[in-house]
Amino acid sequence: MCGIVGYVGKRNAVPVLVEGLHRLEYRGYDSAGLAVVHRGRLQITKTAGRVQDLRDKLREGVRSSVGIGHTRWATHGEPNEVNAHPHTDSSGRIAVVHNGIIENAEQLRDQLQADGVRLVTDTDTEALAHMIAAEAAQDGALEDAVRRVLRRVEGAYGLVVLDVRRPDQLVVARNGSPIVLGLGENEMFVASDVAALVRYTRQVIYLDDGEVATIRAADYQTGMTSRTPTTVEAETGDYELGPYADFMNKEIHEQPDALRRVLRGRLDDRFATARLGGINLDARQLRGIRQVKFLGCGSAYYAGQMGALLVEELARIPADAEPASEFRYRSPVVDPDTLYVAVSQSGETIDTLMAVQELKRKGGQVIGAVNVVGSAIGRECGSGVFLHAGPEVAVASTKALTNMAATFALLGLLIGRVRDLSAAGGQRIVAGLRALPEQVSRILADEEAIAAAAHRFAGAEHMFYIGRVRGWPVAREGAQKLKEISYVHAEAYQAGELKHGPLALIDGSMPSVVIVPSDDLVAKNISTIEQIRARGGRVIAVTSAGLPEDLADAVIRVPRAEPELEPILLNVPLQTLAYHMAAKLGRDIDKPRNLAKSVTVE
Ligand code: G6P
Repeated sequence: MCGIVGYVGKRNAVPVLVEGLHRLEYRGYDSAGLAVVHRGRLQITKTAGRVQDLRDKLREGVRSSVGIGHTRWATHGEPNEVNAHPHTDSSGRIAVVHNGIIENAEQLRDQLQADGVRLVTDTDTEALAHMIAAEAAQDGALEDAVRRVLRRVEGAYGLVVLDVRRPDQLVVARNGSPIVLGLGENEMFVASDVAALVRYTRQVIYLDDGEVATIRAADYQTGMTSRTPTTVEAETGDYELGPYADFMNKEIHEQPDALRRVLRGRLDDRFATARLGGINLDARQLRGIRQVKFLGCGSAYYAGQMGALLVEELARIPADAEPASEFRYRSPVVDPDTLYVAVSQSGETIDTLMAVQELKRKGGQVIGAVNVVGSAIGRECGSGVFLHAGPEVAVASTKALTNMAATFALLGLLIGRVRDLSAAGGQRIVAGLRALPEQVSRILADEEAIAAAAHRFAGAEHMFYIGRVRGWPVAREGAQKLKEISYVHAEAYQAGELKHGPLALIDGSMPSVVIVPSDDLVAKNISTIEQIRARGGRVIAVTSAGLPEDLADAVIRVPRAEPELEPILLNVPLQTLAYHMAAKLGRDIDKPRNLAKSVTVE
């Protein structure tokens, strides 16, 4: 995914930009470049290689108080030096970096060529540089020139524009692709991702879709009336691997701490309930909720499924989950007494954002369960619960998903306690939640054993993930993880459905991961394992139920928890299992092929 960084202020922009680009490397890219103003001229450096190559190519002694940089993930045109950003107009006045896709690029490029402009790249972005230069040739502010051009542009963009004649400012714009301003003291940063800024400032402003802003060292103007900066929780270390081989492994191991953070200040012992101030619902309003519906995509959807089960069990009101991508397209019936929960790590997923907008339009009651503070979904919802997982870098979600499920346990507890959940029942859940971080640590202490099981099964081409009731969303998320990062075909099935079809596929080459929580369905799950093994299928049992060792080909154990909370624990070894299978297969674990961390475009 492309990355943007920009700077204007008292320092030399060059090292700030290089450092920022380096922080964005984790998003994946194929080329990089930057533009600064040196001795009154644009100085552009680009490479079809790594940020390190860009650093090596930079001319000694170049200083500038303003500049823009970019890591590119090719969409229009090959990943080569010419197509790398920044792009400029023919006179070398305007430089542009851009994330997203301009949908009418073809038409804009044709028009420019018809007007006699010579295009030197295959990109959609170059057209913007020429158009902005033409508009900037007229009198008036650069921002106005950019606005006039954007009126003719269709598609998604996060954009930063540098004008050599106005080296005191940058103009930025957002439509569907994140742009965040970083406020420093007499300096201003801009980036597509806070990762590029946290080393310099924690005070940020997320631009809204459709917003255009001018930033100068001392101030910013966004066109919107006053905007309160958000303080980001991220730290530089969150974007560094430390002793880990990759971010997924690091983030798996951060789960105990992430869980502590999501629970901090939210467990109320006195009334045996949860405190979730951000959802802004009093007891009467909570009692008025007749149904809860979770909406999210990918892992956020599976976390929503876990949430639906938790809410049904703890609050005894109907709850379910649906992919936000389906919800937004099927003209849903919106019920005013349903609490809708939009679930998203990034807070930028377009399908989830659109589902929220559809809900609001129809008068639905929607809260966010979002990790990135200040992100679009959180702001659109206006109220909700932050996940406090810390920045998640690997594409495959681990700690954010765990915190989503823990958050939904808190929500279930809160709604349950204004309804029929007794104080003793609430107490039991509060204690169960408090025990989770340490229990996850115990699971992770056994990573070697899980890795050994993963290596034994890494040759499989297909796998089943089987669960029933509490084990079912766990199985779905487990299969998703394996697919995402190892490219092994995995399918999740409800245990009871096995004999209605998929059992036909079981043989020695189709291993099954069977989830066995310690609930009153243990005997049923044991018989599922026996049915699979009787047909020559190999089984990895993931369980808290103290199953005998010889019941399956491998048994992965997790501590026993309060039954409603067990899915949160049972999911953790499945992350580790997928991780080690992918590692054994030599996959690029943090950046699986064809996937992006957040899908902000259609
Ligand atoms: C993408 C990622 C998934 C993620 C989903 C939802 O598809 O590849 O791993 O679960 O988006 O992301 P969100 O940021 O909304 O939780």
